[in-house]
This record gives sequence, structure tokens and C-alpha cells, in this order.
Amino acid sequence: MKRVVFNQKGGVGKSTISTNLAAQSALSGLKTLLVDLDAQGNTTHYIGVDLEQESLTVADMFKQIVGWFSKPLAPEAFVHPTAIDNLFVLPAHPTLTDIEHELESRYKMYKLKETLRNLDGVFDRVYIDTPPNFNFYSKAALIAADEYLVPFDCDDFSLQAIERLLANVSELKQDHNPELTLAGVIINQYNAQAKLPAALVAQLEEKGLPVLNTRINSTVKIKESHSKRVPVPLYAPNHKAGQQFAALLNEIENR
Ligand SMILES: Nc1ncnc2c1ncn2[C@@H]1O[C@H](COP(=O)(O)OP(=O)(O)OP(=O)(O)O)[C@@H](O)[C@H]1O
Ligand SMILES: [Mg+2]
Repeated sequence: MKRVVFNQKGGVGKSTISTNLAAQSALSGLKTLLVDLDAQGNTTHYIGVDLEQESLTVADMFKQIVGWFSKPLAPEAFVHPTAIDNLFVLPAHPTLTDIEHELESRYKMYKLKETLRNLDGVFDRVYIDTPPNFNFYSKAALIAADEYLVPFDCDDFSLQAIERLLANVSELKQDHNPELTLAGVIINQYNAQAKLPAALVAQLEEKGLPVLNTRINSTVKIKESHSKRVPVPLYAPNHKAGQQFAALLNEIENR
């Protein structure tokens, strides 16, 4: 099962959610791969992997695809272990930005799907973090995935952005991945005391969107876990935030 976390709006919680779901998945005993397709590399940093100068990344994997690598390497060569048992990362690199145009102009959008297919027997679950754009990498991820998850950060601009997001994904789905399903909208930065978040969630539901029941509250524990570079299920398993990620994974797995 491959799940992509996507929203073309920036800062809604894509990296936070993909990393914590992947960590929770690994803790539950599933061999899990976290793919970071954002040149910003927030997920790669958050998961605590410090790459050496010569470490292979997802950018090298794409370079191999366009023939900029002399020696063909198996997909496993680009995958790195993390400090968490069962959790592996295909890390991002800033050069993803430099090679994007070349990849796009040579129609390489299907290559991520092929590469991840070669890892089907190795990993039980794959989580893909995407950049805040409907660009080559997000499209490649949505083509490679079985399901997509949309983080929503309880903001009026996010409500407006979601219409465009659904239209974009719907077109991509028709043309390139008819099997792709929306696994759910994840309510992030939720504040039960304020009126606006509940009103925005109600509007999502009125649109018929599958809003997941588990909500991720806005909490400093999540920011602390970023700065410690330890995902919430390990950093604060007994805090509400830790319990919310456990409940979220459970809900997604048992829908
Ligand atoms: N539930 C939360 N509670 C507190 N802070 C949060 C929460 N979720 C996300 N944040 C904060 O919001 C910011 C954006 O989160 P994150 O980087 O996960 O979003 P993103 O969608 O991946 O951003 P980008 O579009 O830049 O890739 C970060 O500073 C993060 O610490
Ligand atoms: Mg991000």
C-alpha cells in the first residue's frame, strides 16, 4: 500500500503528517518506507537522517532514470535506515529542483511508480511527502500511489485551495491513475475551542469530502518533536499528540 500526502498549499502539515504516520506505521510492526520528494528536505531532516556528501538520495535515483549515472543501481541503493526499527527513508536533496525541468520534458512522470513497484516485496507500506506545488514530483507521487491523504489546516485559504486541488487530482487520476482513491482529509492544527475550525470542517463535509474523524490538535509538542528530530510517536507517545497519530493511523488502516 502506497499513500501520498498531498496539498499544493504550503505549510498545512504534509511533512509532519507523512513522517509521523510512517513512524507510527513502523512502530506497529510494518516495514515502512518514507519517500521525501520535496527539495526543502523537511521530512529527511525531521526523521533524523544526516546524509554524508556521497549519500545517495531520491535526486540520484531520478538522475539514474535520465541516464546521468554511469552505473545502474538497484532501488534499494537509495534507501537509508533510520533510528526507528522498520522505518527507512528515500531522502530528498536540493538538486531535485535543478533536474525537475529535464525530467518533465522527457516525460519521466511514470518512473517513480516503476521504481517503487520494484520495492513492493520489500516494504509493507510506503508514505510519500510532496512539495507544496502541483509539479512534476507531486504528479509522479500521485501516479505511483494507491491512495492520497489531504492535510487541511483549518484556514479559510485552505478551503479555497481544496477545490483547485481536487480538480487537479481528478484530471491526473483520469489521465494517469484511475485507481487512485482519496483516503481522507486530515484535519490538522485543530482547535476545538474556536468556532472557525469547526465551521470550516462542516463546509468540507457539506462538499461530501471524506473527513477523517481523528483530528490533530495544534500543539507545541509537535514543534518540539521537529526540533528534536524525533517523530511524535516516539517523542511523546503518551501526550495527546502521540495518541492522535496512533488513532489516525488506526483509522486510515481500518477504513
Ligand atoms: N499540529 C500541529 N501543531 C503545531 N504545529 C504544527 C502542526 N502541524 C504543523 N505544524 C507546524 O506548521 C508548520 C508547517 O508544517 P509542515 O512543514 O509539516 O507543513 P508542510 O505542508 O509540509 O509545509 P510545506 O508546504 O512547506 O512542505 C511547521 O512549522 C510545523 O511545525
Ligand atoms: Mg513539507
